Amino acid sequence: MLFSNIRRIFNKALGQPAYAIRVGIRRLIANAHYIFGGGRSSPPESVTLFLTHRCNLRCSMCGQWGEGGVTKKRSLEFIKEELSFDVLRSAVDGMSSYSPAVTLFGGEPLLYKDCIALIRHIKSKRMHCLIITNGFLIEEYARRLIDSGLDELNVSLDGSRDLHDRIRGVPGLFEKILSGLETVRDLKRSAGKRNPLVNIQCTITKSNYHRLEEMTAVASRAEANSLTFHNLIFTNKEILEKQKKFDDILGASSDDWRGFEFDPGIDPQVLREKMDRILSGRYDFSVDFYPYLSRTSLENYYNDTDYAPSKHNTRCLSPWIAAYVFPNGEVRPCLNSTYSYGNIKDAPLCRIWNSQKALRHRQLLRENKIFPACARCTELYRY
Ligand SMILES: C[S@@+](CC[C@H](N)C(=O)[O-])C[C@H]1O[C@@H](n2cnc3c(N)ncnc32)[C@H](O)[C@@H]1O
Ligand code: SF4
Repeated sequence: MLFSNIRRIFNKALGQPAYAIRVGIRRLIANAHYIFGGGRSSPPESVTLFLTHRCNLRCSMCGQWGEGGVTKKRSLEFIKEELSFDVLRSAVDGMSSYSPAVTLFGGEPLLYKDCIALIRHIKSKRMHCLIITNGFLIEEYARRLIDSGLDELNVSLDGSRDLHDRIRGVPGLFEKILSGLETVRDLKRSAGKRNPLVNIQCTITKSNYHRLEEMTAVASRAEANSLTFHNLIFTNKEILEKQKKFDDILGASSDDWRGFEFDPGIDPQVLREKMDRILSGRYDFSVDFYPYLSRTSLENYYNDTDYAPSKHNTRCLSPWIAAYVFPNGEVRPCLNSTYSYGNIKDAPLCRIWNSQKALRHRQLLRENKIFPACARCTELYRY
């Protein structure tokens, strides 16, 4: 795992050296806080702005809007709640002193009406900005995305034409996205711009794992800078039962994990063969699997639901590195827990980040290394 993380950072360093060096230094500082900080943390290295719960797709494997998705069961009031541009703008102003990388996430972030204005503002403060989008609106937003100064455009594509359209439930979506990416490429070329880098994200599911190699042709056609295959996130009832004890202590809920409660339906041996074949090829873009798992770990990841990486050393560093700002303003350490460190409508993020609630959460997490639900979270492999 250490080797694959070094490889991932090295690949990133080739494309964006200054950014990679800054990340490396921040990781060392976060590790020092983890060991000696008593629950305190240096400012977050990355801030994910969860702009909206709304989404224009219903992808089968999605924990929010998929077959068992939790968001689609929520009230309209919950689904529609979003932070105003003014609140987000002042949050970004507050971040500029420690300059985290900002990721725009959702739901579908391009549905947030001031998304482009927000990217412009983040870039005016010289912060790294990345958006993760389903690509439905790329064609419409292509010029504005490029003019905004966006650094990275991560587009979800789960297969070639028929497969992608089936998984994402919209006939014609694949060609629509590819046409949008061609426009992005042409506009970048005519403006002489390198950014936004185009990263394709493919989520491995039971529907596409037999055909993953087709994605290299897709990335090639899109002239992408990188292609990352993401191992499927899933969990089960037993793990979520065990999580309850910690949720009770913290007065929080991990019910959002319920959206990922399904059988993966993936044969790890077949997947490993696909991985080997794909990784042995030569491409004009970088190719990676996240998390990158050895043959044995891959078997355990998909077949042993209690499995967590390198069992005895496992610990989660994410709450020392990554902050998530939700559409109601809450700053949370994890995407699938309601535990909140505070609300950006009431206080600046840097103060919330070391609030009493933040310290309590990090101390409990460090004492236990991970909570039960964390065993199925892929953030565990990132740091
Ligand atoms: C939740 S979506 C939000 C952003 C945007 N709507 C999109 O689809 O790109 C972010 C990423 O999570 C991926 N994803 C969805 N369900 C997943 C699962 N069960 N395991 C791993 N990744 C998943 C999506 O394919 C997408 O690349
Ligand atoms: S587009 Fe993204 S958020 Fe929407 S259903 Fe698909 S994976 Fe989920």
